[in-house]
Amino acid sequence: MALVHVPLWAVCMLRVALATVYFQEEFLDGEHWRNRWVQSTNDSQIGHFRLSSGKFYGHKEKDKGLQTTQNGRFYAISARFKPFSNKGKTLVIQYTVKHEQKMDCGGGYIKVFPADVDQKNLNGKSQYYIMFGPDICGFDIRKVHVILHFKNQYHSNKKSIRCKVDGFTHLYALILRPDLTYEVKIDGQSIESGGIEYDWNLTSLKKMEKTSAESKDWEQVEDGKSQDWEKHFLDASASKPSDWNSELDGDWQAPMIQKPPYQDGLKPEGIDKDIWLHQKMKNTNYLTEYDLSEFENIGAIGLELWQVRSGTIFDNFLITDDEEYAENFGKATWGETKTHTHTERERERERERERDRQREKQAPCREPDMGLHPGSPGLRPGLKVALNR
Ligand SMILES: *[C@@H]1O[C@H](CO)[C@@H](O)[C@H](O)[C@H]1NC(C)=O
Ligand SMILES: *[C@@H]1O[C@H](CO)[C@@H](O)[C@H](O)[C@H]1NC(C)=O
Repeated sequence: MALVHVPLWAVCMLRVALATVYFQEEFLDGEHWRNRWVQSTNDSQIGHFRLSSGKFYGHKEKDKGLQTTQNGRFYAISARFKPFSNKGKTLVIQYTVKHEQKMDCGGGYIKVFPADVDQKNLNGKSQYYIMFGPDICGFDIRKVHVILHFKNQYHSNKKSIRCKVDGFTHLYALILRPDLTYEVKIDGQSIESGGIEYDWNLTSLKKMEKTSAESKDWEQVEDGKSQDWEKHFLDASASKPSDWNSELDGDWQAPMIQKPPYQDGLKPEGIDKDIWLHQKMKNTNYLTEYDLSEFENIGAIGLELWQVRSGTIFDNFLITDDEEYAENFGKATWGETKTHTHTERERERERERERDRQREKQAPCREPDMGLHPGSPGLRPGLKVALNR
């Protein structure tokens, strides 16, 4: 075993030099997490978290995470880190979540906030950059949210991604890359990927901006202000003549042409306008492709959600710019302990069945289970809660 795992950590350590880790939280120092995480006091009814590895786990200490403790509550808690921008860099957001209580309705997602978020007052209206993770309510809502805040609006992922609904710990990772691609991984497996622009319906937003820029600013061109703009462009389609002699003729450069290629979605009518728009694309507040995945001042991570039945455990939070580091961190945390979890769960189920048998003996005329949650002996929600608490 050890021989297999040591290289993983070794690789992990090697990558530290290259990766930037903005935030990492494994809750390995007892109650000290309370110094790092701020519970919101926006409402006196906000539910409390405790540190717990739950009823079954792979490793009692390593699997400790933030667990929701009160039914039918809103939860709001967050932690800060040194603010950063993901401009030009990959952004990986990763964590583990376990719904050991048989989640019926509630959030299992995290939110990433701008640095100026008011932690003490964190609530459902607090503006966030990214919301990511599973949301379950009955049989209808079982999805992974990936909501991006952009241009003062929240944009949900169009492609629906199914989340895990069993009671085990699952590793969720979101990767946003500067080339405008993204990937969602669950338990280390790629579940969804593609282009941010298309999978968040940002294409229309982009076109909208282009159109308004075109119509609004065109008047400037009409009153003669376009004259100063560069009117020539390198002809990208030209190729070096075969008889070109670099020693005699110097370095070859593509010829300058007056009319730039048409930009998609734009229908310029004349050359001047065409050139002007081309300049406009380069110089002003057009949405550059890049903007779509850029967050200027990322500074906090938090849990802001509602749960009908509590018991969810959040752990192994990571924000980094390095996909490989995240992958290794996932293997070293979730990957290390998950294999032991299934046998532990079986033991816990057996203990529950034993408790049920004892109760049967004491109260043989108990109300029958209504059979709303078939197939889970020993873990029948309504009944268990009533008897255990
Ligand atoms: C909770 O937050 C809302 C919205 O920001 C605010 O209006 C309200 O005053 C806050 N409540 C408390 C008790 O701080
Ligand atoms: C996409 O965005 C446009 C403009 O913002 C909006 O009208 C349309 O309803 C959106 N489509 C979807 C599927 O969200």
